[in-house]
Amino acid sequence: MAKKRPNLALMIVVVVAIIGIGHFVMSMGEGPLAESGPLPEPKWSRPPAGLPELQVALDSISYVINQSMQPIEPILERSCFDCHTNRPKEPWYYGLPGIRQMIADHVEEGREHLDMSNGFPFSGRGTQLDLLHEIYEEVDEGKMPLSSYLWLHSDARIEGATADSLFDWVQESERLIKAAYEQVGLPVEEE
Ligand code: HEC
Repeated sequence: MAKKRPNLALMIVVVVAIIGIGHFVMSMGEGPLAESGPLPEPKWSRPPAGLPELQVALDSISYVINQSMQPIEPILERSCFDCHTNRPKEPWYYGLPGIRQMIADHVEEGREHLDMSNGFPFSGRGTQLDLLHEIYEEVDEGKMPLSSYLWLHSDARIEGATADSLFDWVQESERLIKAAYEQVGLPVEEE
């Protein structure tokens, strides 16, 4: 009676097929997660165009706000930049097609609302006062970072002293912006 031998040809076909499918799947997951073209102009409550005094005031507080943002930048980097800048980190599992598409959509949508790629002033849907207010609110209400993100990045959760330093920075920045408008005699309403 012939001994049943493993079918070598079949095994080779199976191995080659698995490698092939793997390659195909990984190649579907390529492509940039975030486009790095120019950003939309940041918006202000009162556009400084044609108001040189206001332009100077806003430029100088923007400088100050960027400086004061430095100590909290590690928080934003860890918790927000993956979806709100043009430089998301890319762990290996972002190469998996379903995951990659989902993340790419989050990054695109996140950046439409708020883009911090170039520091302050931010690009996004609202004025600088709107965006700062939204940052505070979204984090305070636990809506940001997105819960789907926290599932894989538990260290991105913002609470306790970390939340306090972010909130202090937001409030100080809002105060500076309002002061800049007052300084040139164009106070803004509470937004
Ligand atoms: C996993 C991706 C992701 C991360 C991480 C993330 N966001 Fe978002 N963010 C989004 C998406 C998507 C939207 C737009 C849809 C929505 O509001 O849910 C958004 C919207 C926002 C908005 C606009 C809300 C509005 O109503 O206009 C703000 C402000 C914001 N995020 C702040 C933050 C801050 C601050 C962090 C970090 C603490 C953060 N996000 C982390 C994806 C993310």
